[in-house]
Amino acid sequence: MLDVRKDFPMLKQDIIYFDNAATTFKPQCVIDAMSDYYENYSANAHRGDYDISYKVDLAVENTREKVKKLINARFNEEIIFTPGATSGLNDVVNGFFANLLDVNDEVLITQSEHASNVLPWFRLAALNKCQVRNIDLNANYKVTIENVLKAITPNTKVISLAHITNVIGDIRPIKEICKIAHERNIFVVVDASQSIPHMKVDVQDLDCDFLVFAVHKMCGPTGLGILYGKKELLESLDPINLGGGMNESFDSPNEIKLKSLPLRLEAGTQNIAAIIGLSAAIDYLLNIGFDNIYKKEKELKDYLISKLSHLSHIDIINYNSESGIVTFNVKGVFSQDVAYYLNKYNICVRAGNHCAKILKQAIGDTNTVRVSLYFYNTKKEIDDLVELLSDLDKIRKEMI
Ligand code: ALA
Repeated sequence: MLDVRKDFPMLKQDIIYFDNAATTFKPQCVIDAMSDYYENYSANAHRGDYDISYKVDLAVENTREKVKKLINARFNEEIIFTPGATSGLNDVVNGFFANLLDVNDEVLITQSEHASNVLPWFRLAALNKCQVRNIDLNANYKVTIENVLKAITPNTKVISLAHITNVIGDIRPIKEICKIAHERNIFVVVDASQSIPHMKVDVQDLDCDFLVFAVHKMCGPTGLGILYGKKELLESLDPINLGGGMNESFDSPNEIKLKSLPLRLEAGTQNIAAIIGLSAAIDYLLNIGFDNIYKKEKELKDYLISKLSHLSHIDIINYNSESGIVTFNVKGVFSQDVAYYLNKYNICVRAGNHCAKILKQAIGDTNTVRVSLYFYNTKKEIDDLVELLSDLDKIRKEMI
C-alpha cells in the first residue's frame, strides 16, 4: 500500500489513534471537497433555478449514484441520505416495521448489538408491537447459522443484526442468514457501519432488505448516513419526518401528496457538504482498494493479537476477531484507567461498554478496552502500545 499517512492531516499530530470504530480520520481530499463547496458553490439542493444550485443538485445526485455503485444497489432510488446509521435504523423500525408488526411477532437480535439496533426495537416491544428475542451467541460470541435456525419460530418476522459488531469484531454470515430468512418470509435488517469502511459490501449478493451505515467511520464527514432498502420496501416506508423537499403539494390535512423516492424520505435540506465529502471519501477508498484495506487491517490485527497474547496479564476477549477490532482487559485494572494511562502517552483507545450494553450478559464484563484499527495504522504504533501495556506495575502506578 502506498504511503497513505501523508493524506491525513490528523496523523501529523503526535498521537496514535486506535479508535477507528468510533470514527475515522478524514483525508485532505474530503476536507478540500467540503471547503470547496462552502467557498465556491454554497447553495441548496433541488430548490434553486440558478447555476450554483444546479451544480449542487448534480453533486448530490452523483454521490447517490456513487453510493449505489459502491454497495451494488439496483437503483439510485434505493439510496437515502440520512443523518446517520442510528437515524436510518429508527426510520426502518418506526416507518416500516411499526406498521407491519403485531404484538406476537418476533424480532431477533443478539446480545452484541449496538444500542441503535436494540433501543428502537425495545421501544416497539414496549408499545406492544412486537417481541424482541436474542439469537444465542456461541462460545466465541459469534452468530452461527445453527443458532439462527434454533431462534427462528413461526412468529419470527425480522432478523436485525450488525454486519460486523463494534466490540467483538465478528463478521456475521449475512448472506446465509438472508437465504434462511427469506425462505421463511422473514425480513433482514443490517447495520453495516463497521463493515462498509473495511470491506466490499454488495447488497444484491447479501440480499438483505434494509442496510444502514454511517459515513464518518469511512473517512467521510460526521452527520451523514445511508439507508439502503429494496425499492419495493422503501416505497411503503412512511417518512418519519415531513417537511420541505419531500412533498409535491399539501392543500389540507387530507390532501398531502409526497414526492417519489428517494426525496420522499429526505425531508428538509440534506447535509450537502457531507454528501460532497462522502463522494471524495468513496473515491479515496476505492483508489486504495477494499481488498488492500482488508488485507492491511488483518495483518495489523494478527500482529496485535499475537503480541498481546504473550502478556499474561492481558485477557483478550475476541481472539477470533475477523476485523480490525481487538477488545481486551488488563487483569485487575478498570478499563477506563487503562485508557487514561495510554492517553498520557498520546494513545487513543476506547474504554467502557462501547454502546453494546447487553453484551455484558454474554461476556461477563461490563467494561473493556477496545483497539480498532484502520489501514493507516502501523506496526510501529502497535509496538508502542504493546510496550506500554507490557509493564503491569507501571500501569498500576501511573493510572491514577
Ligand atoms: N459506534 C461507535 C463505536 O463503536 C461510536 O465506538
